[in-house]
Parts: sequence; C-alpha cells; structure tokens
Amino acid sequence: MAEPLKILVILGSVREGRMAEPVGNWVIEGAAARDGLACELVDLKEWDLPFYPFPKPPAAGGYTDPLQLRWAERVKSADGYILICPEYNHGIPAVLKNALDFVYAEWNRKPVAFVGYGGNGGARSIEQLTMVARELQMAPLEASVHIMGVWEKAKSGSFEPDAKDTRWIGHLYDELTWWGNALKNARDAG
Ligand SMILES: Cc1cc2nc3c(=O)[nH]c(=O)nc-3n(C[C@H](O)[C@H](O)[C@H](O)COP(=O)(O)O)c2cc1C
Repeated sequence: MAEPLKILVILGSVREGRMAEPVGNWVIEGAAARDGLACELVDLKEWDLPFYPFPKPPAAGGYTDPLQLRWAERVKSADGYILICPEYNHGIPAVLKNALDFVYAEWNRKPVAFVGYGGNGGARSIEQLTMVARELQMAPLEASVHIMGVWEKAKSGSFEPDAKDTRWIGHLYDELTWWGNALKNARDAG
C-alpha cells in the first residue's frame, strides 16, 4: 500500500470559543479511521503570523525572515491541505488569507479541500478561497463540506455531524486521496 499522504488541517479562526477547533478535530479523527491520509493540525493561533510585512512578495522566493522560513517548511512538508473555514462578512477570515499569502511556492501543485460553516455552510468563503488557491497554483477540490447549524452540532464541545456531513466528508477524503496521490506522483516525476 502507498505511504499515506501528509495533510495539514489548518484552522481558519483564532477566535476565543471558535467552532474551527471541534470541526478540525472531527476532520482529523475521521481521517485517522481510514487509510491513505495522515492529517496534522495547524493552529494559526500558535503561529501568530504578522500581517505580511516583508518587502518582497512571496512569489519572488528568497525568504530570509526566520518565521517565514519556518512557515514555508511547514507548508512544504505537506502533500495537501484541508482548510477549516468559517465565513466572516461573506468572505475569508483575514487570519486564514494572511497565512495563505505568507509563502508561495510551497503551496504549488498541491490539492486543497474546504470544510466550511456558517449561515450558508461557509459557501461564500469557500468560493473565494478557490480563487485564491488558483493563484497559488493549487488544485482546489470540488469536494467540500458545508456544515449547517455548527453551533448546535458542537455545543457539547465536540462536533456531532449529521448524515450529510458524514457523507460529504467521506467524499472529501476520497477525492483528496485521489488528487493527492496523482499530484504527488506528478511532482515526484519532475
Ligand atoms: C467577524 C465575523 C463576521 C461574521 N460574518 C458572517 C457571515 O458573513 N456569514 C455567516 O454565515 N456567518 C458569519 N459570522 C458568524 C460565524 O459564521 C460564526 O461565528 C462562526 O462560528 C465563526 O467561526 P469560528 O467560531 O470558528 O470563529 C461572522 C462571525 C464573525 C466573528
């Protein structure tokens, strides 16, 4: 059997009492119960990245700042990503957009899938993220989870999915595994 793909599950909220945490834990636990995906949690609260402060754009490469270099290594280490994304004012939470902006080449040619929540299941945030992912030369997947009523589902502190959430996350794992392996093989081939 092929090595499991290394997937970073990035929490798109740093807010006190955030729903991103129970949702992210549910995503990681579900992946651990099947083959093919080795997920690791990335908490942007711990990273505490400043708003992009450097003179050169990340696409120019040649990073010198120690924190940017450390973030680049973390991003580079993965074969793909799952973004846990709420919707803030019909858009991407700033902390998540900044984390995406912070490096460039390390995201390229990797798949990214989205788990959204909010009034419309995070649909508008996810739509905007797919456009950003395109510019980062990523492969944004169609397979998304749009969670409705997240506050009810996570009121115990752990996320309790409904049948639709369970079906959609299964599809997301399947697609991420397929795309992750296809793109990893292509990257390895040069
Ligand atoms: C600044 C801010 C803006 C928000 N804007 C929206 C919105 O446009 N659409 C929506 O469905 N929910 C919106 N919400 C509600 C969030 O979906 C809800 O608070 C969610 O739990 C936020 O994710 P988090 O708990 O992981 O931070 C907003 C919340 C905040 C804090």
